[in-house]
Amino acid sequence: MISFENEIEKVLITSEQIANKTKELGELISKDYLGKDLVLIGVLKGCFVFLSDLIRHISIHCTIDFMDVSSYENTSTTSSGVVRILKDLDDNIENKHVLIVEDIVDTGYTLKYLINFLKGRGPASIKTVALFNKPSRRIVDIQAEYIGFDIPNEFIIGYGLDFDEKYRNLPYVGVLKKELFPQG
Ligand code: PRP
Repeated sequence: MISFENEIEKVLITSEQIANKTKELGELISKDYLGKDLVLIGVLKGCFVFLSDLIRHISIHCTIDFMDVSSYENTSTTSSGVVRILKDLDDNIENKHVLIVEDIVDTGYTLKYLINFLKGRGPASIKTVALFNKPSRRIVDIQAEYIGFDIPNEFIIGYGLDFDEKYRNLPYVGVLKKELFPQG
């Protein structure tokens, strides 16, 4: 039983919908990368729930690494456009097939920056899987190759996505009650 459920305005995507989509994406990725040296790169922190479910539907050999970048000011719901690397990769990705794992692509600043940054390391290929995509918020012309759900322009929380570092543990994706977060 979730103690803070009364803070949620509505459920946007249920746990079951997410589970089905994650399975579908994992199976597709397994097929597309069969016989290739696949490295999953999770973008912290938001990716951790999606990545942990996705990887259990990937049925080919793969390795995992993480980056941590910052694109939002703390507690703000809008992107500053400034991307900083807080944690770099542990391993070499040269000649490997890189799949960036994102919870959400919003303005696209983070993904664009990451792709350019990682290209400099000489991978065999770079693609992205994003569970959520907000096309109406895009500022930079960039698109993930694998997308779970296109979502409307609402501030969503849950399944790894936070507001003020909270709500990541919600098992579904919801919209917070308006009075609980500042507009902007
Ligand atoms: C979120 C998300 C992406 C980024 C997308 O991370 O995980 O990395 O924002 O936004 P953009 O397309 O506008 O660049 P956030 O910086 O909120 O950090 P978190 O993953 O630690 O919550």
